[in-house]
This record gives sequence, structure tokens and C-alpha cells, in this order.
Amino acid sequence: MANNTKGRRDFMGMALGGFTALGGIGALYAMKRSWDPLPSVKAAGFTTVDLSGAQENVLNVEKWRGKPIFVLKKSKDMKADDRDVVVGSDRFHVSIGLCTHLGCIPAYKADDHKFKCACHGGEFDASGHQIFGPPPSPLEVPPFKIDGTNLVLGEAGPEYKKMLDAGLTV
Ligand code: FES
Repeated sequence: MANNTKGRRDFMGMALGGFTALGGIGALYAMKRSWDPLPSVKAAGFTTVDLSGAQENVLNVEKWRGKPIFVLKKSKDMKADDRDVVVGSDRFHVSIGLCTHLGCIPAYKADDHKFKCACHGGEFDASGHQIFGPPPSPLEVPPFKIDGTNLVLGEAGPEYKKMLDAGLTV
């Protein structure tokens, strides 16, 4: 009788241990799955924007990795800048649309060729340089690549690397 009870206890202990081990493996597997990026996230790492239909002085706001991206085709009367993205004979301002003060999204004032941040009055010119108020630095240029008339956000092409090396992206 006593042996029987011990045997049952041993069996229960082994079974429980087995379940615990299985649970541990399951938990590890679940953790590994949560570390691996989902296929959709990988695909979402890049955003392709066709620039061929862009209109001068009209701001397009794209989305890349959850951030607003400003794409502004410059008109001839706007000053050229080393941070411009040049596609054929057109120049574009491309930046992450978050104010470098505390992260609000500035609005584009087409008549003034300026970005104005409503939070604390910061201003940026059409090349993204801070020109007024508390923003400490220009609007940041995201990694990009030019592919024909497409702008590929999230991939660092030679034009971006050149800007980065010259310290112009921030
Ligand atoms: S967040 Fe833009 S000026 Fe403060």
C-alpha cells in the first residue's frame, strides 16, 4: 500500500516535471517568436514613394515605420540646399516630420515656404533648417534611396550616405 502510494507519487512527480519542461519549451518558443520580426514588419521597413506626380510647393506626408515623412517638391524660387534630394532636374525636401524640439508634427505653410510647429512656435525653412524658436536642430533626413523616380524610405542609398558623411542628416 505504502509502495503503491510512493509509486503513484513518483509517477505524478515525473508527469508534473514533464509538463513543466514542456511548458518551459513552449515559453521559450513563444519568446523566440516574439523576438523574430513578423514578415509584415520586415516588409513595412521600406516605403516606396513615386515622386513623378509630385506638385511644387505641395507637402506630401508619407508614413514610414510609424513616423510622418515630409516630401516637398521645391519650386524654382526656393533656395537649393545640400540636404535636397535631387531627382532628375527636380529638388525635394525629405524629412521626418517631427519637430526636433519635443516631437510635435509641424504644419507646412505654403505661402511662407515654412514649417511651423504649433506646440512652442518653432519654425523650419523649406529645407528643414530651424529658423525660429526652440528647435535645436534641423528636421531629420530619414535613410533613403533614389530608384528612378521612386524614393525608397528605409534604405540608405549613395545620396543619403553622402549627406550622412557630411553631417547633414540631422
Ligand atoms: S515641439 Fe515644436 S517647438 Fe516645441
